Amino acid sequence: MMAVAEPAREIILRTRGVGKTFGKFVALNNISAEFSKGAITSIIGPNGAGKSTYFNLLCGGFPPSRGNIEFEGRDVTGQPQHRFAHMGIAKSFQITSVFPQLTTHENIRVGLQALVSRYDIWRPRARLRELVEQADELLALVGLWESRDRAAKTLAHGEQRALEIGMALASRPRLLLLDEPTAGMSPEETRTMMDLIVKLARERTVILVEHKMKLVLGISDRILVLHHGELLAEGTPQEVRQNEAVKRVYLGQREH
Ligand SMILES: Nc1ncnc2c1ncn2[C@@H]1O[C@H](COP(=O)(O)OP(=O)(O)O)[C@@H](O)[C@H]1O
Ligand SMILES: [Mg+2]
Repeated sequence: MMAVAEPAREIILRTRGVGKTFGKFVALNNISAEFSKGAITSIIGPNGAGKSTYFNLLCGGFPPSRGNIEFEGRDVTGQPQHRFAHMGIAKSFQITSVFPQLTTHENIRVGLQALVSRYDIWRPRARLRELVEQADELLALVGLWESRDRAAKTLAHGEQRALEIGMALASRPRLLLLDEPTAGMSPEETRTMMDLIVKLARERTVILVEHKMKLVLGISDRILVLHHGELLAEGTPQEVRQNEAVKRVYLGQREH
């Protein structure tokens, strides 16, 4: 007789043997991994481990040199970035990219309008009201509603990163990818951002790239550890924290 089956883990994204070379340099080698729907999966590793390279493969920023990528059961290897976005994968990069002169609210509307412009000719006024409301909802979600009329360039660094995530959410993604969202943040900004990530993960799948292991241990369902372009370890936070190879890599690093 079979034991009680574990609930099936629904896989939203999968890579099979993906690699990436830049010239002769192997930045990423043979990474096979599965990402569960509805979970927070963190990708950690020291600087230069290949995290951002892997991130770019997952969001369609560039294609893998080998291997393939499956999203919701479909092979999406080699599809252009806009196809990834259209399929429901949104990303926010390590580098902030808001429109500095526009207000917070206008920035979000740019994100929304990119999606819906083809409807505009039918009922422009109702459509505009809807856009304003949607932008306000997204601003509230990322904690920026009170700053809606401020120029983005006057926001603090942490707020700009939150705004950028708000823009990424405009496409209503099922999968949100974040590359070091707390880079350059104060401890307080970092806490606010981590709280936001946990909140966002209630409604969508999140893949989080992070340099500091300590930050993600408490919030991740699973963790992948990259080192020199290889998948060094994979498991629950507890498993990863106790992994001898991971301990060796992180030993002596000041920030983890
Ligand atoms: N476009 C590129 N051209 C050449 N080398 C690159 C490029 N992007 C990344 N690399 C190299 O690949 C390795 C992994 O980089 P990256 O994925 O950015 O690491 P991480 O995000 O973990 O710090 C590094 O040694 C980096 O110098
Ligand atoms: Mg990086």
